Amino acid sequence: MADDLEPTADPGWVIQEQGFDPLRERGIESRFSVGNGFLGVRGVPPIRCDQAWASRPRTFVAGLFDTPNILPAVPALVSGPDWVGVTILVDGEPLLHGPLDVADHTRTLDMEQGALFTAWRAARTDSAVVRVRSRRLVSQADRGVGLQRLQLDFGGTAEIELLTSCACADPALETVAHWRDGGVWRVCRSGMSLAMSVTSALTIDGRALAAEPNDDLTWRWRWTSAKGQTAVFERLAAFARGDDPGGDPGPIALAALTRTARIGWRAAVDRHEDAWAERRLCSDVKVEGDPAAQATLRFAAYHLNSAANPIDERVSIGARALTGDDYRGHVFWDTEIFLLPFFTLTWPEAARAMLMYRYHALGGARAKAARMGWRGAFYAWESASTGDDVTPTEVIGADGSVIPILSGSEEEHVSADVAYAVWTYWRITGDDDFLLRAGAEILFETARFWASRARMEADGLRHIRDVEGPDEYHEHIDDSAFTNVMARWNLLRGAEVAAMIWKRWPARWKDLAARLGLADTELEEWSEVADTLATGFDPATGLFEQFSGFFKLDEVDLAAYANRTTPMDVVLGRERISRSQVIKQADVVALLALAPEPFDPRIRTLNFRYYEPRCDQSSSLSPATHALVAARLGDRETALRYFRMAAAIDLDDPGARSAGGVHIATMGGLWQAAVFGFGGLSFAEDAISIDPVLPAGWSSLTFAFQWRGSRLRIRVEPHTLSATLERGEAVELTVLGRLHALQPGAPLRIDLDPAADIGLAHS
Ligand code: BGC
Repeated sequence: MADDLEPTADPGWVIQEQGFDPLRERGIESRFSVGNGFLGVRGVPPIRCDQAWASRPRTFVAGLFDTPNILPAVPALVSGPDWVGVTILVDGEPLLHGPLDVADHTRTLDMEQGALFTAWRAARTDSAVVRVRSRRLVSQADRGVGLQRLQLDFGGTAEIELLTSCACADPALETVAHWRDGGVWRVCRSGMSLAMSVTSALTIDGRALAAEPNDDLTWRWRWTSAKGQTAVFERLAAFARGDDPGGDPGPIALAALTRTARIGWRAAVDRHEDAWAERRLCSDVKVEGDPAAQATLRFAAYHLNSAANPIDERVSIGARALTGDDYRGHVFWDTEIFLLPFFTLTWPEAARAMLMYRYHALGGARAKAARMGWRGAFYAWESASTGDDVTPTEVIGADGSVIPILSGSEEEHVSADVAYAVWTYWRITGDDDFLLRAGAEILFETARFWASRARMEADGLRHIRDVEGPDEYHEHIDDSAFTNVMARWNLLRGAEVAAMIWKRWPARWKDLAARLGLADTELEEWSEVADTLATGFDPATGLFEQFSGFFKLDEVDLAAYANRTTPMDVVLGRERISRSQVIKQADVVALLALAPEPFDPRIRTLNFRYYEPRCDQSSSLSPATHALVAARLGDRETALRYFRMAAAIDLDDPGARSAGGVHIATMGGLWQAAVFGFGGLSFAEDAISIDPVLPAGWSSLTFAFQWRGSRLRIRVEPHTLSATLERGEAVELTVLGRLHALQPGAPLRIDLDPAADIGLAHS
């Protein structure tokens, strides 16, 4: 590393943005956010200028919600004080009025070090300030802490004024107290609170310059610059969240600031980088032969690793993580289905914390089920801090009409999605403690929900009526294949895990059964309901009907609308789309991706080929799921096409939709497309199996994952697969159907050419 203000020189680890485009600024700020699962800071330029209208400075604190006094009255993430802005006056004039003052403005997201770098050069040669560079990060080692360094290089003499202010602008925050170096704010309606402690220092050519006395939370330095002079501004800020009304998080923020200030800026950065290096080691996906795919996967892992906090069970990851305001910080099925696989396999501690968040939300889920007349747990479709459903009930449509949002009451599949993530986490990590403490209860209460939901009818089958599947273009539907197959899976796993706990941990079973009122008859009922649940599968055609009556809906040739720029529900209108077979996002295809049952390859192909042309991909969740399923079918070309479509969502941001934050579920989907799709990793039959399908042009794909305490690294090349056990005990893995034993210190090299005799070979 050249100095503290230069990003890594390796182009494979950076994304860069040159210049300043007010129209695209907000999306850039989302992409260039830094985060650590507790703090999220958008990638706003550090120097405040007249173009501020285009910018959206935000420091999000995970879990800090308030319910605004406006409609819809649903909780929204609050923004903390803006601790990264700096105002610079040169002879009384702002350094920056707008883009024309800048010859060169570069933002570099350094995904190797987990930091944002900015560099700016003056357009005019007679400018007193010729260059400003900065670095910003939030620590992975001490999550309350943010660090900033800014360096100004001078080319001449001028009166310089550097001003900073960390006042809170969010109307949801009421000041409890503030002083020169910090403050405590109360969130108006939720009773939560926020504390910040901050310290700043300025040196001119290495000599400290004291700040002038000023108002609380503002600092001002004044001096005369000279040619060749360098000024370095450093700021440390520490944040703490108070969850209980009347609690004071002030001492926690102060303690974090004190311990960071004690070790100093450089050591604090080193600790962050060590922690970040561990994340990289566990989650980096390396692609050779396709630089764009490489950048995509590094960008995805960067944002995923920036979004999670393994030590906070009171929060989970919202649909835009901590990078923007869209979806108000709410947690959807996105987390369990799109994000959890990444965390379970690369950062199990973070996965566990997110699942514990759902455990703490069980009260809200039980209350929601009871309110709707059912038993067990019906999880919130949109969830904030309490577990209550916080889905808005209405939205204004493209034509100005008020549209009711039914997903809160109808997208019941979320309960099975949570159960799926619980069980998958347990199976992959072997974390029995989690299962016994929390996971089993989630599995049982969700199974109980489905048993109460599925009603026996005259045809001798049980049906689940009036729901919505992942495809939100069709509401009030009956027997959604996705929902019912996932429900069946949930019922069977509930019964199976109950039997296992009864056998292996009888005392725990006794306790759980008594507390939840689980009788043997109820467990038998779960199996019976699973066996009689309608799923819409037609053995004659091999197709799942997405929901009852779907096949009879109008066919629409989506190819005829290939050049549209708006989603199909806007093109056709709500009424027509509901009568059509146009699908918003992977639905049956999402079922194929999750594979809750071992679908025959023929069934997978038939369903993918049927549903893929009917999907308009208007949810950001969808393209990566199609990439994953296509790759598993061996259709490399289609898979790569969808992979690139998913990558473009944030990296190209064609419709400027990243303005409200990055699409974190897409990031999780991209990782899954690479590792489960092209890498071919799966865990059917309770074992690791790998069936790779490298896309054209990829000369290698390398990824790591953890399985029951062991860490494996897999490298796939066109004709060989190498497997290394980096940590833990020996494991078995099946590659293209053949079983291999992987021992510590004995990497495997396996020939992938089916014609060759591929025995067990130790290299
Ligand atoms: C999708 C949902 C998703 C939500 C948040 C919606 O547009 O249809 O499936 O959970 O966005 O990402």
